[in-house]
Amino acid sequence: MPATPPIIIAHRGACGYLPEHTLAAYAVAYAMGADFLEPDLIATRDGELICCHDIHLDRTTDVAQCFPDRARSDGRWYAADFTLAEIRTLQACERFGDDGARVFPGRFAAGASGFAVPTFEELLRLVASLNRQSGRRVGVYPETKDPAFHIDQGLAIEPPLLALLARYGYQGRAAPVFIQSFSVDNLQMMRFEMGCTLPMIQLIEAGEEHDHRVTDAGLDAIARYADGIGPDKQRITETQGALVVGAHARGLQVHPWTFRADALGPGFSSLADEIRAFADHGVDGVFTDFADAAVAIVRPDSRQPLISSG
Ligand code: G3P
Ligand code: CA
Repeated sequence: MPATPPIIIAHRGACGYLPEHTLAAYAVAYAMGADFLEPDLIATRDGELICCHDIHLDRTTDVAQCFPDRARSDGRWYAADFTLAEIRTLQACERFGDDGARVFPGRFAAGASGFAVPTFEELLRLVASLNRQSGRRVGVYPETKDPAFHIDQGLAIEPPLLALLARYGYQGRAAPVFIQSFSVDNLQMMRFEMGCTLPMIQLIEAGEEHDHRVTDAGLDAIARYADGIGPDKQRITETQGALVVGAHARGLQVHPWTFRADALGPGFSSLADEIRAFADHGVDGVFTDFADAAVAIVRPDSRQPLISSG
């Protein structure tokens, strides 16, 4: 393991164990020793930011049972059509795919969980309180989901996101936060038009149509507004780590995604082998559904109290 091991980013909380994007999943990830908690963010009809991966509510909540008549003509239930008060009546559940089957059948039991869909502010409050009590400095790693859709709906994510981060004390390049987006326009707007000085990560998908982002010119462009890249991990294996070298040469951190004990990358027989291989490539962080395992791999000697009054 390198002298400076990668930071552990709890992808959607401890979603390997609990329904994703719930306060329970975030609290468990915190206690597991994660360095950052990752929420994806979408907006409700009344403009509140909630932690949810999809602009739809129907794959991770019981919205279809609770509001059977509120789907759009495409058969999907959009968070943008529901008030926060309505969303608070829902229960979060394990993720279902478009085929109606559970995406990860070995994870938390299907069906009503008793867990709610949290607001981003509730997550910020949770982190602030746990940090104050434990003395740790765990950060947040919010992703703006489908910013163009939200602007089109009159529900832009960026103003409430930056306002909330400011209200909870996140200021400047050293703040324990990374704002991430797949959208170049979105990050550039926050950086250059909204004056955001917080760390930013440009997410980069796999696939030929996105290859231009990882060329020398593409990385040069990203370095003008972002502090790092968040590539699909496949982009690092297929370049045998050259992407990490190229990014580091431009001062960009590299945080690949997503590391899962129950869905290993090709050629790996354990999560430990996979994370060690990426650490050896020099990545600066890893998104993982299993923060406990990842912490044990990158910091095997760590005995840091996770939640302790001592
Ligand atoms: O944000 C990094 C990674 O989470 C991107 O993928 O689809 O899980 O948001 P997704
Ligand atoms: Ca994400």
